[in-house]
Amino acid sequence: MDLLTVSLGSRSYPIVFGRSLRVEVRAEVATVQREGRKLAVITDRHVAATQSAVLGDLFGDAPRLVLDPGESTKSLEALGRVLDFMAEQRLDRGSILVAVGGGVIGDLAGFAAAVYLRGIAFWQVPTTLLAMVDSSVGGKTGINLKAGKNLVGSFHQPARVMIATEVLSTLPPREFAAGMAEVIKCGLLGDAPLFADLERTPVTVQSPDLATIIRRCCAAKARVVEADEFERAKEGGRALLNLGHTFGHAIEQVTAYRRYLHGEAVAIGLVAAARLSADLGMIPDGDVSRIRAVVAAHGLPVALVEPLPWPELLAAMSRDKKVRAGKLRFVLLEAIGRAVTRDDVDPARVAAAFASVGAALG
Ligand code: NAD
Ligand code: GLY
Repeated sequence: MDLLTVSLGSRSYPIVFGRSLRVEVRAEVATVQREGRKLAVITDRHVAATQSAVLGDLFGDAPRLVLDPGESTKSLEALGRVLDFMAEQRLDRGSILVAVGGGVIGDLAGFAAAVYLRGIAFWQVPTTLLAMVDSSVGGKTGINLKAGKNLVGSFHQPARVMIATEVLSTLPPREFAAGMAEVIKCGLLGDAPLFADLERTPVTVQSPDLATIIRRCCAAKARVVEADEFERAKEGGRALLNLGHTFGHAIEQVTAYRRYLHGEAVAIGLVAAARLSADLGMIPDGDVSRIRAVVAAHGLPVALVEPLPWPELLAAMSRDKKVRAGKLRFVLLEAIGRAVTRDDVDPARVAAAFASVGAALG
């Protein structure tokens, strides 16, 4: 077992790492139950089916709500189901909600914990690579609206994050690749040596250094969150974690969250952001090729599989949460390993960057 602390004053919490955390999690659960506090688990059907032994070992007969898998579960309707379940189980302010799943379950359950009784504690037990390296850390919780992704939510830090890499053994390869998009992002925005490692040797679920890479991404995210927990920095700050996401969220939205996994849309977004950075003279063209090669080497798309109309993509981008005073805000690269925010980018250049990954301009 290994441990990292996210230092946020009274909202600080540990991230616990291990191959199997059965002993550690059971001990935590036993402590909570000895204190007379209730604990309830939210998960999805795929996790419940593929990790039933782990779920049973960790949480015994704690009440469990199993939701449909997929992005459509980050909805108002599913939120209502979780809140009703919490009330039926008579969770009180001392209770703990445990999110066992990927980013969808973590974001949804975290938001339910944030608003139920005006906020109760929750634990994150991420089961996808994406959730391990990104979404389980930092306290961004929320759901989607028809109008856009993550438009309703709250900053609500987990009370602990428990990352047991053994559960990745049942993760489908396409989902593993989607998680690698966030790992590549982590290298691009602040860890050039990590990017170079990925360039030398693409990471797979069998890679001996996978656990180290997960820890490295969590540590990097923790540092960014500690410096700008509520994403208020005028420049840079937590918004940098959205490298590739302005493009990616637009792709997800225009394709109704059906065609691309979140990580796949982000992967295309990373290539588009690199192209835009190069077109603005911030990085050399050669870096765009390197980034495209690393994305492709991890089984991720580098372009849209079919063209999407630019006007729809632009409309989706203009609803992005990073929009300030009507201006689109982009995270761009000054170098591999160094990112900045820019809100002065000519839309024609954005259109050209989108066209370079397959958007239809005309
Ligand atoms: P996900 O939660 O939909 O999980 C992907 C799929 O894998 C699902 O079908 C799930 O049932 C299945 N699954 C999960 N663990 C499994 C396992 N161990 N074995 C077998 N199947 C398993 O998707 P995701 O990629 O984890 O998360 C994407 C979501 O995360 C998006 O909604 C995105 O907006 C959000 N996100 C949030 C943050 C944040 O900071 N809060 C950061 C990045 C992404
Ligand atoms: N994934 C973006 C953030 O946590 O801020």
